Amino acid sequence: MSARGQFSSRIGFVIAAAGSAVGLGNIWGFPTQVASNGGAAFVLVYLVLTFLLAYPILMAELIIGRHAQSNMVDALQKISIDPIPKLIGRLTGYWGLVVVSLILSFYAIVAGWMLAYGLQSVTNMLGMTAASTWLTTASILRDIIFCVIFFVMTILIVSKGVSNGIEKWSTRLMPMLIVLILALIIYVSTLDGAGQGWEVYLVPDFSKITDPNLLISALGQAFFSLSLGVGTMLIYGSYVSKKENIVVLGASVALVDIGIAIMAGMLIIPAMYVALNNGVTIFNEAGDLIAGPQLIFTVIPSLFESMGTIGPFIALVFFLLMAIAAVTSSISMLEVPVAYAVENSEVSRSKASWLIGVGILLISTVIIFNQALLFDLVVAITTQYSQPLIGLMLSIFAGWVWHRHTILEELKDGCPEMESSVFWKIWPSYVRYVCPIILIVMFYTTTFG
Ligand code: PHE
Repeated sequence: MSARGQFSSRIGFVIAAAGSAVGLGNIWGFPTQVASNGGAAFVLVYLVLTFLLAYPILMAELIIGRHAQSNMVDALQKISIDPIPKLIGRLTGYWGLVVVSLILSFYAIVAGWMLAYGLQSVTNMLGMTAASTWLTTASILRDIIFCVIFFVMTILIVSKGVSNGIEKWSTRLMPMLIVLILALIIYVSTLDGAGQGWEVYLVPDFSKITDPNLLISALGQAFFSLSLGVGTMLIYGSYVSKKENIVVLGASVALVDIGIAIMAGMLIIPAMYVALNNGVTIFNEAGDLIAGPQLIFTVIPSLFESMGTIGPFIALVFFLLMAIAAVTSSISMLEVPVAYAVENSEVSRSKASWLIGVGILLISTVIIFNQALLFDLVVAITTQYSQPLIGLMLSIFAGWVWHRHTILEELKDGCPEMESSVFWKIWPSYVRYVCPIILIVMFYTTTFG
């Protein structure tokens, strides 16, 4: 076992963890949910759910990780005393490991599409029509090529380690992401039709938020967006120095994540109405705003096309933004199995990154060949079912299995006055009772409701 990596600074951790959190979930998932679910009213629900439910679980992961100084499989076992919780802890850890690998396997396919569309804006500028058509026409070859490219980038970063790879690249890429998104928001706001989009976004329609399905999808979105329930935040927490106040760090990560999701809404929703203004169809037959892949790969590209000569440049910036968001998340996914392998065998980080990365790439390939059958299935099994269920397990471990006293000791590192803090007054009983109950109700409703 080699020496454990560590983030070199507080800000390095916040940026890397925010990089993990901010991904396709924020820039793609969040805005579409907002648009079809009552605009600002949904944002409000999302904010409340994130702070009431997702943040406490995020803290559970970070605290367990920093205390155990290990990956989720070993960590949940370490904080348990009796043999049965130890065994359940291990199994939960393995489950997280499998789930995160599966998430990466479909995430990389989608990220590959972003690369293909980004490249297409370049071939468009050069007038290479045939290449452009190939890049934007679904084919197994295209999907595999760009998925491989995306995996190579992810593997190269992870193989360099925590501070030299993950932290370094996150701190390079995240500021770029913020600049790009701001530039796009400003540009899109100046176009005709944007005003209507802003209105849809900012005027709350509370009639939509009474729907229980909405609460569930908002919660699912919050879990996915904060990278919870798969051991990602746990392993990042294990690389945080004992000198840091982890409660504040966790809150900063959640704030950045929400902030960027809200900004993405300011981009995508006005952009859709600009597209409408330019004659692009943005509603489906049922009269709802088009969401999912069709939004990103049909509506948004048609918008760029309708912009004239500046279109390909804006498209390039947009897909670059997407690719950056994706890579800072995918590295955090690959880190989970890699850390496990490095901590439990003699294998070097570099070798583990390549072996595991290529292994997950093979799963992606299977999905690419059987897209109609597997894609939605894998997404549902991992994000809809497993993430909340593992979240539930984590809240049980933090609330029932782990000793309260040890948790306090852990939190006091980096914040000696923790015992009298608001966090300590609320969080322990919160993860013990409130989180499990809500998660069980939510899971029950999604599955059987
Ligand atoms: N949070 C990422 C996003 O919003 C996805 C993710 C899920 C990352 C699970 C790591 C682990 O896109």
